[in-house]
Amino acid sequence: DQMAGMNHAGHGKSAKAAGKPAGAKALTLPTGAALPPLVRLKNQSKKPGQFVATLRAAPTVVQIKPGVRTPVWTYNGSVPGPLIDVHEGDTVTIKLINQLQQPTTIHWHGLPVPPEQDGNPGSEIAPGKSRTYRFTLPVGSAGTYWFHPHPHGHTAEQVFRGLAGLFIVRAKADPLAHLPERHLVFSDLKLQTNGRIAENSMDDWMNGREGQFVLVNGHLQPTLQVLGRQRWRMWNACSARYLRLKLPEQSMIQVGTDGGLLGAPHPVTELLLAPGERAEVLVSGDGNSALMALSYDRGKMGDMPPEHDIPLLHAHFRIGVPAELPQQLRTIEPLGTPTAQKELVFSEDMDNMTDDPASMKFMINGKVFDMNRVDLTSKVGEVEAWTLRNDSDMDHPFHLHGTQFQVAERRYKGQTTPEKLLAWRDTVNVRPQESVIIHVAQQQKGRRVYHCHIIEHEDLGMMGQLDVI
Ligand code: C2O
Ligand code: CU
Ligand code: CU
Repeated sequence: DQMAGMNHAGHGKSAKAAGKPAGAKALTLPTGAALPPLVRLKNQSKKPGQFVATLRAAPTVVQIKPGVRTPVWTYNGSVPGPLIDVHEGDTVTIKLINQLQQPTTIHWHGLPVPPEQDGNPGSEIAPGKSRTYRFTLPVGSAGTYWFHPHPHGHTAEQVFRGLAGLFIVRAKADPLAHLPERHLVFSDLKLQTNGRIAENSMDDWMNGREGQFVLVNGHLQPTLQVLGRQRWRMWNACSARYLRLKLPEQSMIQVGTDGGLLGAPHPVTELLLAPGERAEVLVSGDGNSALMALSYDRGKMGDMPPEHDIPLLHAHFRIGVPAELPQQLRTIEPLGTPTAQKELVFSEDMDNMTDDPASMKFMINGKVFDMNRVDLTSKVGEVEAWTLRNDSDMDHPFHLHGTQFQVAERRYKGQTTPEKLLAWRDTVNVRPQESVIIHVAQQQKGRRVYHCHIIEHEDLGMMGQLDVI
């Protein structure tokens, strides 16, 4: 089992020392390569409206540092995994071949796929076996999604070893289709000096895993040319790192969230992407700028090193011909007045902590995940208000399967702030001692999960099950 072979570093001061052995030569990676486009998953079907392909989850070896062999687990050999780029209305048929030594699933993060096609924990595919996922993308589902494994207890490891791919659903009429588009997948890499991907330490399990490198499309600080205005789709595929994105001196206009376009363009000076979250921005400007991830104090336990600002990407901007920017992108209707309420309280309990990560309890409503327990029930189509209350000292990015939701308001230190942006999301951060109220309506019957998207917290139990009836 994944937890048996790990490095028991302990926590607090000793863990910090263990993370940085004195005198060890720091591993470096080359920077400055041109941002590579994502590998596209090829459609094997010639029929209109059909996307058919195979994904093979298998161990392989890549050279992240030239000349150094790094064993990874990938979909079809690439890190990050391939991009599935389809349209609303398409039927997607994906055969997954599991050549890992562990059971796995594919979860279609954010997409409204039927529950039995959504790769839930409990529907694992055994090593050596395969299965076919099949779903049709409804009109209105255009947006920026991703896919990754979701096997019970092994999600964190499968993702940090390289298993994650990207998914774009396009509307037939997209008001921004005239703009050149770039894809930026942020991932976190924790590499040992021998070039191997490190196991999770106790600190990683507790605070969520962060690596010494934050990569964009698998590269450290790549470069990008921006002539005129570009549309960037961005994915935070890190296990636990928060990305407080800033593009100094250039213009950044948010146009989309997880579940597609906003109603109107929304200029931003910075943008927080929690683990699992996506955004679309339009960028333009003049001169050189680094896209920065500014330090974000997300509340960690133990004696962890302070956060600092890191450059993710170096971009060279030229003004070019100013592309037209529509003032309206689409119409988003509020979900309406909720007729049911739910409260989810996030907490952790380290009281009985040993050197086994499973001794740390990450809970929702006082319970760790149990596949044989249904925690909540909703009725198809009913609008509900969920209060997500964070009773802990760490940020937790909440994620719900099966549908997109709308953030209605936030309560923090006795103050209530209505949410300014009406947007479709499937992941929302909840700060320590904050409550976030979301409005949500599930549209399909069946079992769904919801969880913290710091993947270590999910694996350690901060997950629950919802039956939609
Ligand atoms: Cu991206 Cu249930 O996860
Ligand atoms: Cu998901
Ligand atoms: Cu968490």
